[in-house]
Amino acid sequence: MEILRTADGLRQWSRASRKAGRSIGLVPTMGALHAGHASLIRAAADSCGRVAVSIFVNPTQFGPNEDFARYPRTFDADCALAQAEGAHIIFAPYVEELYPDGAATFVEVEGLSERLDGKSRPGHFRGVATVVAKLLIAAEPVRAFFGQKDAAQVAVLRRMVADLRIGTEIVVCPIVREHDGLALSSRNVYLSAGERAQALTLSRAVRSAEDLVAHGERSATALLEAARAVFDAEPSVRVDYIELVDWATLEPVASAVPGSLFAVAAWFGATRLIDNTVFS
Ligand code: PAF
Repeated sequence: MEILRTADGLRQWSRASRKAGRSIGLVPTMGALHAGHASLIRAAADSCGRVAVSIFVNPTQFGPNEDFARYPRTFDADCALAQAEGAHIIFAPYVEELYPDGAATFVEVEGLSERLDGKSRPGHFRGVATVVAKLLIAAEPVRAFFGQKDAAQVAVLRRMVADLRIGTEIVVCPIVREHDGLALSSRNVYLSAGERAQALTLSRAVRSAEDLVAHGERSATALLEAARAVFDAEPSVRVDYIELVDWATLEPVASAVPGSLFAVAAWFGATRLIDNTVFS
């Protein structure tokens, strides 16, 4: 499988593929691929004629005290997984390719970028929007695939694509979980055994809200209280946020309606993880 290193190379591959009648699906990743990414690649292969997987640990979406340097890098295994799931090429640029000397252009999705994860990770969504815009401009895909686990990221990218009139459809795939409910994340490898056990509070908190809604409760206060009680039972867990918001605007809502996003984030030692559910 070919590994492309330049945006021009990706653009040429995309244009040649489309000339040959193949639509392009793009799966943007930071590598350290797991079964969640595999499901995105499969979804892309199911609906697009050619699939590009990008692997790029994007420095601009990490804060100064975050885990950029130690983020897991497993390039050879990632290429093997991507190929097995149906990818046709890997786009793995070096940092200087996407951020050439003197690069001064960033994409800021105002408002949304300061909510949920953006509140505790200032600048994070600016980095995400910027790199995804660069990838979409180079690959010109008909569809790009993202996991629902990063639900706030999805909201930011949907807004960006609509505002910039980028003709790519954003496809969102369901959260993939371990057998005990923990949402898959490349950062799960950081967890000690004790933290791994505590991290189950995330999916438990999400389920507590889902159970209430299944029984007819819709008030934000009740859902937030139920989730808070789950975290309170594990005093060493530091909650970042528990929120019920409109998925499009990320603004808090008073009751769960179709399209409401219930999202949680918490720290387990030095590792911050997230989880969510979207009500129908
Ligand atoms: O979700 C991710 O892995 C990253 O935020 C993304 C979309 C690949 C941008 O770097």
